[in-house]
Amino acid sequence: MDSLEIKPAERLSGVTPVAADKSISHRLAMIAAIAEGATTIHNFAESVDCESTLECLRNLGVKVERTRSSLIIHGRGLHGLEPPPQALNAGNSGTTVRSMSGLLAGCGFESIFVGDESLSRRPMKRIIDPLRQFGATIEARDGNYLPLKILGRPLNAIDFTLPIPSAQVKSCVLLAGLQAQGVTTVHEPVFSRNHTEIALAEFGARIRMGENRIEVEGGHALRGKEFSVPGDPSAAAFFIAAAIAVPNSSLRLTGIGLNATRTGYMRLLAQMQARVTITQLSVRNGEPVGDVCAESSDIAGMDIGGSWIPNIIDEIPVLAVLGTRTQNGIRFRDAAELRAKESDRIHAVARNLRALGAAVEEYPDGLFVPGGQRLHGAAVDSFGDHRIAMAFAIAGLFADGPVVIKDPACVSISFPGFFDLLNRVRV
Ligand code: S3P
Repeated sequence: MDSLEIKPAERLSGVTPVAADKSISHRLAMIAAIAEGATTIHNFAESVDCESTLECLRNLGVKVERTRSSLIIHGRGLHGLEPPPQALNAGNSGTTVRSMSGLLAGCGFESIFVGDESLSRRPMKRIIDPLRQFGATIEARDGNYLPLKILGRPLNAIDFTLPIPSAQVKSCVLLAGLQAQGVTTVHEPVFSRNHTEIALAEFGARIRMGENRIEVEGGHALRGKEFSVPGDPSAAAFFIAAAIAVPNSSLRLTGIGLNATRTGYMRLLAQMQARVTITQLSVRNGEPVGDVCAESSDIAGMDIGGSWIPNIIDEIPVLAVLGTRTQNGIRFRDAAELRAKESDRIHAVARNLRALGAAVEEYPDGLFVPGGQRLHGAAVDSFGDHRIAMAFAIAGLFADGPVVIKDPACVSISFPGFFDLLNRVRV
């Protein structure tokens, strides 16, 4: 499929789950691989990114079984991974290569990570630096890019302050800390998603989570157990935006992960007077879960920056699209990290919004999308980036004419059923 046309929608309605959480699925699979015994994971994400993680684990000697409703990972224990017979291919997935590098740094063998063109352009120095401090030997192209060669060694615990708020870097350090001698401490000046910490506690790791600081003690066995993955709030974000923007719409998204490190998007929308409510709240495997109801709303707009940014980093493209519907526009600052994602998302959003006839101001670290703008139909590019494709599919629902998305298949990186679900909620 080279392109896909999204026609304007009259109204949206429905009650539906969305794709399972990609971040949590990656982490459960990786930690299960080094636990003792089997881990059963219900609702494991079917995304291509999580499949990359499973394929890398299989290459490290991990047995992964699929039943109709779940995935079973047979753990090999803290020191049980095997030397891979070939390079580990992380595909498009930053979480796979950055987190799993932590897992491999303490193994007594050599591993090489490769990835697709987009991943090969993304910075890896951010994980190389702490892993070298642990005592691992790592080589990368120009010191920063794939292929990454990791020569695992016995590690010594480190005390590390995250120079950028990145959950992938934090996960890398915590996973390396599991195999290091001593207590590894991570200081986190700005919070990022904490699914690794929660999962490690569930697997029985000796981990302490304090204000802006996490400690993990190395050398202790983890125990496999049963998990259920919630719906991905970053996948729900597209449908929440759709319900808000298309008149007379109402969507209820069921079983969505509501971890506070991921709900900034919903909280900001509520501050902008959007009608977004949460019901059926419960906690599963340490993660809050609930239903999110979103209805058509007039929203005010606002300036967003600082510590909000890591919490909403994956939602910024769709929030920028929604910015055209606000009264006063949305300004994003402090978001330079967006330029180092699967595409340069600041550039991609600005290019595509302009293609749809909108005015946008681009900054080195963000964007300003003025409010009260009508979008016209036109062709836009996904830039091979799943979140850009999905954000502009939502634009197609409320533009004055059809929006044609070039290279739409990339949505399967996080949400293989995205376009089908979009059709099902149209009335
Ligand atoms: C992720 C962390 C974020 C996010 C990415 C998934 C994770 O990246 O953008 O989609 O699963 O840890 P950074 O940690 O690089 O900010």
